[in-house]
Amino acid sequence: MNEYCNQIIQGDCIELLKTMPNDSVDMTFADPPFNLKKGYKSYTDRRSFQEYLDWCSVWISEMIRVTKPSGSIFVHNIPKWLMYYSETLNKYAYFRHWISWDAPTSPMGKSLQPAHYGILFYTKSEKNFKLNELRYPHKRDRKTGYLQKDYGGKKDQLHPFGPLVSDVWSDIHRVKHTSKRDLHPCQLPPHLLDRLILLSTDEGDTILDPFLGTGTTAISAKRLGRKYIGFELDEDYVRISKDKVDNTYPNFRVGNSWVSLYLNEVVTIRDIDWSDLINFFVIPNPIREIDHTRIKLKIKIDL
Ligand SMILES: C[S@@+](CC[C@H](N)C(=O)[O-])C[C@H]1O[C@@H](n2cnc3c(N)ncnc32)[C@H](O)[C@@H]1O
Repeated sequence: MNEYCNQIIQGDCIELLKTMPNDSVDMTFADPPFNLKKGYKSYTDRRSFQEYLDWCSVWISEMIRVTKPSGSIFVHNIPKWLMYYSETLNKYAYFRHWISWDAPTSPMGKSLQPAHYGILFYTKSEKNFKLNELRYPHKRDRKTGYLQKDYGGKKDQLHPFGPLVSDVWSDIHRVKHTSKRDLHPCQLPPHLLDRLILLSTDEGDTILDPFLGTGTTAISAKRLGRKYIGFELDEDYVRISKDKVDNTYPNFRVGNSWVSLYLNEVVTIRDIDWSDLINFFVIPNPIREIDHTRIKLKIKIDL
């Protein structure tokens, strides 16, 4: 196994990636600086247009190289840069999805109001790759637990837990409140990473993030029973990540199934796990009572 397994390493990700063997991790995820002049501690986020793209094509190529043939590659950014990233990705990997993460972003000059980030999802192989269908809970009124949508009179045909996850994600919110975030300008919510990890990996798989920031990917990997490798340029961010990961436990599990939790409620499950999970939900008759019962976990999970 790779010497970096379950490690967070301080350093330049391109140099570190170059020390890794080919085909050695199951999933790579990158959330690089967006070249938007953000105030990172050790990195100046203002390169020229071409300099930024040339730099990105080096680490993207390295990410693809270290991903196993059965593995997946994800890159998060604003649409402008993802358009160019595809040039490199299309040469060595296979396009699966453009995931649209519905979250307001900063306007850049004269434009439509930007309302989503993109996550490019590629696989290293054309055919043999992992992709699990996922489900997220139906939207319900907070107080009554009633379904928010009418569903055209077909409520009794709904899946008791919730619909299959599409390529537009509107139910995951950015980490905005200062009390909930670290001293870092661009921290991602861990349940965004949970969803990507549940989508494309199994228990025990290894996930690499070359721009770890304050540790989101490593935290998500660890709490879902996966291994992680994180690279980060800044010493302070590395220290924050290590502290947080040390205090994270592989406990995002209900019965034998790994799930994503937010505020003690299940927010993403794998469709194949539903038959095991159904016994843990308070839905005595899932079809008839779906309208009236707020689906909650019977057990409380200590986070
Ligand atoms: C958008 S942030 C990642 C945030 C992360 N996803 C999180 O949730 O905390 C990008 C990170 O890349 C780091 N960085 C910039 N250049 C780097 C390099 N060459 N190697 C490793 N990390 C780098 C920055 O310090 C910053 O923390």
